[in-house]
Amino acid sequence: MRSQLFLSTLLFSTVTGSQVANLNIPADVAAEYGCNATCYRTFSAILYIDAMEYGALYDEEFYATANNFSASAPGDILKFQPIVPDELSGSVPKGTTAYRFQYTSVDLFGNTVPVTGFIAFPYANRTNGQLFRTVAWAHGTSGVFRGCAPSVIPSLYEYGSWSYLIERGYAVVATDYAGLGNDQAGHPYVALSAHANDVFYSVVAVRKLFGASLSTEWMSVGHSQGGGTVWSLAESSLPRNNNSSAGRYLGTVAQAPGVFMGSTALVALESTQKSTSDIASSRSVLGEVGFAVIGFQNIYPNETFSWMDHTFRERLKLAKKAQACYTSMESLTTDLDINQVFNLSANTTNEQAR
Ligand SMILES: *[C@@H]1O[C@H](CO)[C@@H](O)[C@H](O)[C@H]1NC(C)=O
Ligand SMILES: *[C@@H]1O[C@H](CO)[C@@H](O)[C@H](O)[C@H]1NC(C)=O
Ligand SMILES: *[C@@H]1O[C@H](CO)[C@@H](O)[C@H](O)[C@H]1NC(C)=O
Ligand SMILES: *[C@@H]1O[C@H](CO)[C@@H](O)[C@H](O)[C@H]1NC(C)=O
Ligand SMILES: *[C@@H]1O[C@H](CO)[C@@H](O)[C@H](O)[C@H]1NC(C)=O
Ligand SMILES: *[C@@H]1O[C@H](CO)[C@@H](O)[C@H](O)[C@H]1NC(C)=O
Ligand SMILES: *[C@@H]1O[C@H](CO)[C@@H](O)[C@H](O)[C@H]1NC(C)=O
Ligand SMILES: *[C@@H]1O[C@H](CO)[C@@H](O)[C@H](O)[C@H]1NC(C)=O
Repeated sequence: MRSQLFLSTLLFSTVTGSQVANLNIPADVAAEYGCNATCYRTFSAILYIDAMEYGALYDEEFYATANNFSASAPGDILKFQPIVPDELSGSVPKGTTAYRFQYTSVDLFGNTVPVTGFIAFPYANRTNGQLFRTVAWAHGTSGVFRGCAPSVIPSLYEYGSWSYLIERGYAVVATDYAGLGNDQAGHPYVALSAHANDVFYSVVAVRKLFGASLSTEWMSVGHSQGGGTVWSLAESSLPRNNNSSAGRYLGTVAQAPGVFMGSTALVALESTQKSTSDIASSRSVLGEVGFAVIGFQNIYPNETFSWMDHTFRERLKLAKKAQACYTSMESLTTDLDINQVFNLSANTTNEQAR
C-alpha cells in the first residue's frame, strides 16, 4: 500500500522545473563583459535557441545531492524518478520509457562523487522473459554547467545519437557525467578516466534497479566527448573482470572520439595562423577552448591560465553568468580573433602549446 502510494506520487506529481541554464542576459550586462552590440546580437539569439532546449525540466530537489550519499559506495543508487512521457520531446522514439537516477561514482582523484543520468527502454514485449540488451551511452559535449545535462533536457539530448539503439531494442544507460545535473563538484570536462568511471558505475547502479530485465553482457557507445570516454573505459581495468557487478563487458564503439583534443586543437590553430581558409574549422576549435578551460578549472581551481587573453577571459565569465550550454557558449568566440583568445605574446602560450 505504502509503496503503491509512493509510486503513484512519483508517477503523477508534475515536475516543478526551474530554468537554470541559458539565462536571459540584458545587453548592458553583456557589455560589462566586453560583449558589444555585434557580439550580443549573436549571443542573445543563440541563447534563446538553447533555452528552448535545455534546462526546462531541472528539478532542484531531484538533482540535489542525496542525503545518504556520504555513506554510499560506487555503483549505489541514491535516487530514482520516472520521467513522465509527456515531458519528452524531440527525436526520442515513440513509446520510450525513461527514468532519471542519481548514483555514486568515483572522481579523478578516487573520491566518491554523486552523478545523475537516465535509463531508456524501448517499447517492446517482454512477457516471454526476454532481456533487454544493454548499452551504456556516453554523450558528446552538451556544456559544462549543471543545466546542460542530458537528463535535464526534454529530448534527453537525443541528436541522432542514441535513438537508433532504442529502435534496435537496446536498453540505453546514459550518464550525465559528474558536474552536469548534480553539481556537487564542477564538471571535469574531458577528464576522460573520470567520465569512464561515471559510465561504468551507471551500469552497476541500474542493475540494482532493473537487473532482472537487463542482459548480463553490455557494451559502451559514445560520441565526441563520449567517444573519448568509452575509449578510456575500454583501456581501463574497470570492465576487465567479466564477473564484475557491471556484468560482462563486450567492448566499445567510439564515434569521433575526443581522445587527442589538445593536439587536434593545435593543428587547427596553427593552420589559422598560416592561412585564413580554415577559419570555420578553427572557429569551432576556439569555441571548444572555453569548455576545456572551465573543465580544467573545475579540477584545478587555482589554475590562472596566463596564456588566456583578457577578452576571452571576460567572455568566459559571461558564459558562466548565463550558464550557457553548447551552442551559445561556442557563439561567444565567433566574433573574436585568435589573439583575443590567446595572448600570443605571453611565453606560456608557446610552452603550453607543446
Ligand atoms: C564590436 O567589436 C568588434 C571587434 O571587437 C567590432 O568589429 C565591431 O564593429 C563592434 N561592434 C559594435 C556595434 O561596436
Ligand atoms: C538512499 O536513499 C534512497 C531513498 O530513500 C534509497 O532508495 C536508496 O536505496 C538509498 N541508497 C543507499 C545507497 O543507501
Ligand atoms: C507478448 O508476448 C506474449 C507471450 O509471448 C504473447 O502472448 C502476447 O500476445 C504478446 N503481445 C503482443 C502485443 O505482441
Ligand atoms: C572474459 O571472457 C572472455 C570471453 O568469454 C575470456 O576470453 C576472458 O578470459 C575472460 N576474462 C576473465 C578475466 O574472466
Ligand atoms: C565468473 O562466473 C562464472 C559463472 O558464475 C564462473 O564459472 C567463473 O569462474 C567466474 N569467473 C571469474 C573470473 O570469477
Ligand atoms: C589554492 O589556493 C588556496 C589559497 O591560496 C590554497 O589554500 C590551496 O591550497 C590551493 N589549492 C591547491 C589545490 O593548490
Ligand atoms: C600578454 O602577455 C604579456 C607577456 O607576459 C603581458 O605583458 C601582457 O600584459 C599580456 N596581455 C594581456 C592582454 O594579458
Ligand atoms: C620569453 O622567453 C624569452 C626566451 O626564453 C626571454 O628572453 C624573454 O625575456 C621572455 N619574455 C617574457 C615577457 O617573459
